[in-house]
Amino acid sequence: MERFGNLETLAVTQEDVATVISIARQEALNALNKAVLTELDTVLDALRDYGSSKPLIITGEGSRAFVAGADIGEMAGMSPEEALEFSRFGQRIFSKLESFPQVTIAAVNGYALGGGNELAMACDIRIAASNARFGQPEVGLGIIPGFGGTQRLAQIVGRANALDLILSGRMINAQEALRIGLVHKVVDEGKALEEALNYAKTLMNNSAFAIAQAKKVLYAGSAGKDDGMALEADMFSGCFKHPDQREGMNAFLAKRKPDFKREG
Ligand code: COA
Repeated sequence: MERFGNLETLAVTQEDVATVISIARQEALNALNKAVLTELDTVLDALRDYGSSKPLIITGEGSRAFVAGADIGEMAGMSPEEALEFSRFGQRIFSKLESFPQVTIAAVNGYALGGGNELAMACDIRIAASNARFGQPEVGLGIIPGFGGTQRLAQIVGRANALDLILSGRMINAQEALRIGLVHKVVDEGKALEEALNYAKTLMNNSAFAIAQAKKVLYAGSAGKDDGMALEADMFSGCFKHPDQREGMNAFLAKRKPDFKREG
């Protein structure tokens, strides 16, 4: 699509009822590297500048993953300063998505882990295929969620469920995600995008202006989130000063279990 320049990691299509952005890095299960985040930023700005009044759907290419997290290969060698910048960068783009003036829908087709779950949570509506899997596995890599997950997960599913998911790092299936309110609807495998388009179609009967106003009010209720976001970025960066981050990420890249040292 010319309006967005040459995109390498995203595919953007204009449907009658919605703009669809697909993350297109199937070889890495659509993991979010800096290129994906930069292109997402560009596309969101372009759609906003253009005054698009269509809903926005975000999905991942292929059936295996929506997004399997931030790119671990890219993060493994980051300094604490680079990690702070990376966290703030991701937070800024996801906040831009959250404040997009039209309805945003995540069509989750497979893994939505770490930054992938954080991306889905920055959307207004989440529709999951039955094979979708959700989680915040960061603690198993020696880090914490850094793209707003510590704040949005608690807001969406309550602190008790957020603590369970973030501290255990466990993965949940689509039905459990539905039960705790992380997703709005579960559909058959391969049908998430279709259902997201159906949902978008129903929105076309509503006032785009009123929708934009309603979104502003609903998200204005998240008082204190800015402080939480700043703390999250600092704590995320702090993890990169500790040996567990190197061990956790190197272990993932070497396809082995991490060996975190425990004292006492
Ligand atoms: N960053 C970078 N690369 C990733 C990735 C990530 N977050 N998630 C998956 N990949 C890559 C793998 O390294 C692998 O690449 P390779 O084929 O060059 O070896 C490819 O995607 C396929 O993943 P693989 O692990 O072989 O698939 P699987 O079916 O065995 O497991 C997952 C799927 C999602 C369970 C597993 O990939 C995983 O745990 N990913 C990391 C999830 C995570 O911790 N995310 C949070 C990051 S903060």
